[in-house]
Amino acid sequence: MSKHSAIKVQNLVKNFGKDDSLVQVIENASFEIQKGEVVALIAPSGAGKTTLLMMIGCVLEPTSGEIWLGKNMVYQDKWIAKDTRRIRREKIGFIFQAHYLIPFLNVLENITLLPQANKVSEADAKKKAMELLEYFEIADKAYNMSSQLSGGQNQRVAIARALANNPEIILADEPTAALDGERAVSVIKMLKKIAREQNVAIITVTHDERILPYCDRIMKIENRGIVFHEIDEDEVL
Ligand SMILES: Nc1ncnc2c1ncn2[C@@H]1O[C@H](COP(=O)(O)OP(=O)(O)O)[C@@H](O)[C@H]1O
Ligand SMILES: [Mg+2]
Repeated sequence: MSKHSAIKVQNLVKNFGKDDSLVQVIENASFEIQKGEVVALIAPSGAGKTTLLMMIGCVLEPTSGEIWLGKNMVYQDKWIAKDTRRIRREKIGFIFQAHYLIPFLNVLENITLLPQANKVSEADAKKKAMELLEYFEIADKAYNMSSQLSGGQNQRVAIARALANNPEIILADEPTAALDGERAVSVIKMLKKIAREQNVAIITVTHDERILPYCDRIMKIENRGIVFHEIDEDEVL
């Protein structure tokens, strides 16, 4: 495996239930995503997009197959990684459609929560959080509550929170679904900048054609497997 690989998946299978209630979601998926790459994950509702992200994010156990994150094999027919929660906290940043900021904490506290759980000192966590807020041009909102921010501002805070632990991988599940066109584009531009500047691999589930031109590749779930499409700029621009 190349040293530039951030995610590698081999023969991944995911079924839910068994016998009469068996649902085969992912049958035999194999792919590799490089550091610094932004990949759009597209498939119809119910095709297994969230399921795939949650397996890569060490949240949901596959049925069989192999997963590497960077140079570490984390799954081979069972979890190889001793502590999947720790991998999740240290390596992965999650961004969801809804921002899930904690309503009774201010913006800064929302961002410093996880680093502090990872035993980063309060001072260091705050310093890093303020840098991220400045980077996203919302430092003036640091002491505001989420309810006082717009949808786009909250989503920027959610991205800042996902970055607070310097993750190697960002998994985003429809991060722009709740945003209008201009804000959706500004969010994907930010994600792309982060991918390039910090060598972070990003998979973003999307139905949003507006953001495809900013992605490097399109990954689709077809017939329970994974296929890649190059981005056809004529089609999407
Ligand atoms: N915990 C679960 N138990 C049983 N079936 C599930 C579970 N989670 C998801 N599924 C099924 O797996 C399939 C893929 O779901 P999901 O990954 O949420 O799709 P998507 O995100 O592409 O809309 C669906 O048929 C869904 O009903
Ligand atoms: Mg989903």
